[in-house]
Amino acid sequence: MTTKIPTGFPEHFLWGGATAANQLEGGYNEGGKGLSTSDMMTAGTHTTSRRITPELLPTENYPSHEAIDFYHRYAEDIALFGEMGFKVFRLSIAWSRIFPNGDDPEPNEEGLKFYDNVFAELKKQGIEPLVTISHYEAPFALAKNYNGWSDRRVIDFYVNYCETLFNRYKGVVKYWLTFNEINILTMPFGTFLAGAMIPEGSKEIMSMESSSEQARYQALHHQFVASAKAVKIGHAIDPNFKIGCMIAYMCNYPLTSHPDDILLAQQKDNLGNFLCGDVQVRGEYPGFAKRYFAENNIDIQIQDGDPQILLEGTVDFYTFSYYSSVCVSADPDQAKVGGNMLMGLKNPYLKASAWEWQIDPQGLRWALNNIYNRYRLPMMIVENGLGAVDEVEPDGSIHDDYRIEYLREHIKAMKEAIIDGVELIGYTPWGCIDLVSAGTGEMKKRYGFIYVDKDNEGKGTLNRSRKDSFYWYKEVIASNGEVLESSSKSAK
Ligand code: BG6
Repeated sequence: MTTKIPTGFPEHFLWGGATAANQLEGGYNEGGKGLSTSDMMTAGTHTTSRRITPELLPTENYPSHEAIDFYHRYAEDIALFGEMGFKVFRLSIAWSRIFPNGDDPEPNEEGLKFYDNVFAELKKQGIEPLVTISHYEAPFALAKNYNGWSDRRVIDFYVNYCETLFNRYKGVVKYWLTFNEINILTMPFGTFLAGAMIPEGSKEIMSMESSSEQARYQALHHQFVASAKAVKIGHAIDPNFKIGCMIAYMCNYPLTSHPDDILLAQQKDNLGNFLCGDVQVRGEYPGFAKRYFAENNIDIQIQDGDPQILLEGTVDFYTFSYYSSVCVSADPDQAKVGGNMLMGLKNPYLKASAWEWQIDPQGLRWALNNIYNRYRLPMMIVENGLGAVDEVEPDGSIHDDYRIEYLREHIKAMKEAIIDGVELIGYTPWGCIDLVSAGTGEMKKRYGFIYVDKDNEGKGTLNRSRKDSFYWYKEVIASNGEVLESSSKSAK
């Protein structure tokens, strides 16, 4: 008997790109939209953290307010995605466009209508939407009046928001993600970004050390319950819905073969990645998490019905972001590098981006196998890419070979994982059109196949143009991942 193994990307593989409302749309106070948490975040740099201001200040630059103006230009942008051959487009819905204060009794019709229009354009181009319900933003009023996800009442506001979306977009949207990078709440910088909580002390998003683990894990529990409720309600509204989780995959290698390093890497994988995966995929807290809570005086208020809710609301598929890997060591005296806002140690075998994110395509194959071996669910990589500075040539062309190289190597790693037996169904590289960086608020940290003429100070025409990677990715999609080597010039 000959064993048949996959030879490449499956038929109907979902090639596309990913974005988030607060980094893309702009129109922050148009169409009845309320202020969101991201609207209160100033611009930063690689070395200066973004800050929250409790009120909007005329002297500050808030990148989300205009972003790249997708709010007015979505038709043009979606046509470009169609030209590249996208099968899927990941976008998020701005919660405060639908419920301006979060706890409003009725949704804002104008906000719902905006997304009707966006979905209609996608349909015109034959592109399937993949919708993140909450991507690093919540109505700011929930942060101010409830301290965000620390308050259990926010669960009901979120579930009501989900129900509104599910009823409105039933038959139009099939793929949903409940929370972007839910596991970011395990870290201090997730406090405001993911948890909409405003801690005492520093208002710099990268240094919210005053936020306690107790508060963050409690907020995370509320998000778990909210997500599970949404999954259950979503399936009741439309049994064809596929509702997934979304984890920021933190790929931790032991720095040495010392058993302490090996064990530490496993512990980081457990707490950083598998805690959230286990609750959302398996419907219960794993033993290692309970031990961690007990040993660190973390006492989560879990109501009687919660375990049942978690069990009944497990997800249909698993998605994650992957940008880089880091090393971990039990020895504290190691130089630190950044890594998708996730700190770790330098790997001597890897190069890093200008923002010090280490480039590791093989780590993606490792991650895909590691996750699939545990959950056996269909998977999508819903974020991956290289944030880099692009130079525009005098003739307007942009030769982003470094981006092509990065993506090509990651796609090769994906193919290897598929041959390993991983059920990978889609790939949406991050920031398929240049947008605002979540970590730094910069424009110059670009990920796109499509260039947007706007600089860090907010100056520029906002005109769109095709980079070399645009033509390259178009060919990748057309060949279902078989043609990876053609140069961007010959692909034109
Ligand atoms: C992910 C987020 O963590 O990384 C995105 O989900 C973010 O919102 C992306 O934009 C890249 O990070 P950055 O800081 O380069 O924008």
